[in-house]
Amino acid sequence: MLRHLPQSNDPRLLVGTATADDAGVYRIDDNTALILTVDFFTPIVDDPYTFGQIAAANALSDVYAMGGRPLTALNIVAFPACELEGDVLPAILRGGYDKVAEAGAVIAGGHTIDDDEPKYGLSVTGIVHPDKVWTNAGARPGDALILTKPIGTGVLATAAKADLFPAGVAVSIETMATLNAAAAAAAAAFPIHACTDITGFGLLGHAYEMASASGVRAEIDSTALPLLPDAAEAAAMGLVPVGAYTNRTYLTAISFADSVPERLRDLCFDPQTSGGLLLALPANAADGLLAALKQAGVNHAAIIGHTLAPGKGEIHVY
Ligand code: CO
Ligand code: CO
Ligand code: CO
Repeated sequence: MLRHLPQSNDPRLLVGTATADDAGVYRIDDNTALILTVDFFTPIVDDPYTFGQIAAANALSDVYAMGGRPLTALNIVAFPACELEGDVLPAILRGGYDKVAEAGAVIAGGHTIDDDEPKYGLSVTGIVHPDKVWTNAGARPGDALILTKPIGTGVLATAAKADLFPAGVAVSIETMATLNAAAAAAAAAFPIHACTDITGFGLLGHAYEMASASGVRAEIDSTALPLLPDAAEAAAMGLVPVGAYTNRTYLTAISFADSVPERLRDLCFDPQTSGGLLLALPANAADGLLAALKQAGVNHAAIIGHTLAPGKGEIHVY
């Protein structure tokens, strides 16, 4: 939709709407740039406190994906006015509050409107050094691609609606509520060329955005993908959200080797909530970053592929 709007040519806007990046970045002075992002959605789990935590982890993630540190957040709430007196909204807000506090940031305010369908999220402001912004456009040919969280949250949310795979669903909820803070902090010691976080467009959608913005193509090893427990089984049963099919239709630059099973293809397109970081860095630094991530408790991080030159974002999954 944004192509219908004029683009800003203000030189202080370091990252705007042109590159499908995770957040806007606005330069204040030589040492400081602001990172600005907003995310909100309808409840994806039954427990309101957990929903608040996941919504906050998801909103904060775009600051980490730009290499920054979150400072403040504003609550965005849509909620039925007739239920405002109950204990559901306070639990949602408490979940968000606690997750923002865990990130070392503060909630500075917010806004609520009356809406039959509840929605919650946050607008987050962070900071970063203007020379150290991780955009999605910096990947270079020959980079390794590292993913820091297992995929399958959309498939397992679909399983949860059918009361199936409770063990995998529980791990998925825990994963969604986990901040990308530790992963970003570990990665900050390495020469990161590009970064994005995996959310609604799925692993391949966000990998495509990174590869196309960087002018490279990529190869992804489907056998190296970290998967949530039960995710492959649930996908094989057809518990695949409609968004995965939308992503698959929209993404035409993807090719699969015949050997890649359908359940893995579905998981590659599965829309993620509060997914991991996808990092591109020189291949000879990848093992070091993987070790640092493990040491930081980011246990399911994996090297999932690499970039090649030149390209327009084509991705081959083998
Ligand atoms: Co993002
Ligand atoms: Co976002
Ligand atoms: Co207001």
